[in-house]
Amino acid sequence: MIMRTLEVALGDRSYPIVVGSGLYADLPRWLQLRHITPAHSLLVVTDSSVAPHYGKRVLTPLESAGYRVQMSVVPAGEASKSLDQLSRLVEEAIRFGMDRDSAVLALGGGVVGDLAGFLAAVYMRGIRFVQLPTTLLAHDSSVGGKTGVNHPLGKNMIGAFHQPELVLFDVDTLATLPERELASGFAEVIKHALIADADFAMWLEQHHEALLRRDPTLLTEAIVRGCAIKAQVVARDERESGLRAILNYGHTIGHALEAATGYRRWTHGEAVAIGMVGEAILGELVGTARDVSGFTRRLLALYGLPVTLDEPLSDEELLTLMRRDKKARQGEYVFVLPKGIGTVEVKKGVEERVIREALRRLKEE
Ligand SMILES: NC(=O)c1ccc[n+]([C@@H]2O[C@H](COP(=O)([O-])OP(=O)(O)OC[C@H]3O[C@@H](n4cnc5c(N)ncnc54)[C@H](O)[C@@H]3O)[C@@H](O)[C@H]2O)c1
Ligand SMILES: [Zn+2]
Repeated sequence: MIMRTLEVALGDRSYPIVVGSGLYADLPRWLQLRHITPAHSLLVVTDSSVAPHYGKRVLTPLESAGYRVQMSVVPAGEASKSLDQLSRLVEEAIRFGMDRDSAVLALGGGVVGDLAGFLAAVYMRGIRFVQLPTTLLAHDSSVGGKTGVNHPLGKNMIGAFHQPELVLFDVDTLATLPERELASGFAEVIKHALIADADFAMWLEQHHEALLRRDPTLLTEAIVRGCAIKAQVVARDERESGLRAILNYGHTIGHALEAATGYRRWTHGEAVAIGMVGEAILGELVGTARDVSGFTRRLLALYGLPVTLDEPLSDEELLTLMRRDKKARQGEYVFVLPKGIGTVEVKKGVEERVIREALRRLKEE
């Protein structure tokens, strides 16, 4: 059996992340270790694509162990991260008789994790929750305690910090993940390597074939290393005051690309991949780093991710969006730029002329 664990160190809110193969059979034991016993009711929140594959695999061991459990299914897709779905889930939780000691289990990707986590954060002013991630990207969203839903006027505009009791990541679920979603998840894994761990970046280059074949042992290793990097950053900056900004590598450009194309042209991971190449080029132009964009491009391309900006977007629009980035202050451009492979810094006051040049180079093959 493949199994690795790591601890997210947040004082009395610390929790374990367990990654491996065939883990759901042991879910009751893990819950009990976290003091969620069969005396407590469980609401499993999942989506319409995940439920048919893994709903039973989660429910059966829980029911056998004597838990009172109900499954709530939301439609697959980002649109379910909404106040409407939240309200519907609250209603189901009330009707099911959930109380302060009950717990929410989030079975799915980042959408389900954010939505179910937010449900747990606000239901009766906060109940416990457990993440059962089923996308590679969710290795990222399962660490850090950010939960929430979208508003028609903006993504992630309504939310709360709420840490899970446990993350149980069964890599067997990744077998059914669409290829494009898998690649998008790798964009964030690669991001974690590029900001903090050059050896990990080399390892990802070396093992790309087996990882894309979804070898469970290697996937487990990749997820544990990615989570460990995020967990370290979060442990030092739980509420996002400074250091945590480095997790935003590739995201200043990436978010602008997503917004400029109405979130339809690229997945989040794809936009971040292009963003990391752009910010690597920018780092070279600003002088924080040398020779990083070539490796960045090669590594991302090995995972089938886009590495050039091949959409005719106006620089003006992208610049306006980048000035609105949450790191930006007083209209100043702020970027996370590489210092080398595996290390980055936050750079304020980057000149517009240089950003334009980086965008121009990002459009070249
Ligand atoms: N909280 C955080 O810190 C954080 C960090 C990053 C991203 N996010 C959020 O995560 C969301 C994106 O997450 P995502 O990429 O996991 O998207 P997702 O949850 O929508 O999953 C992607 C698609 O894959 C399907 N799917 C999931 N698991 C599957 C499986 N094992 N087999 C087959 N199909 C499966 C889903 O139904 C969905 O259609 C965004 O809303 C983003 O804002 C949050
Ligand atoms: Zn991201």
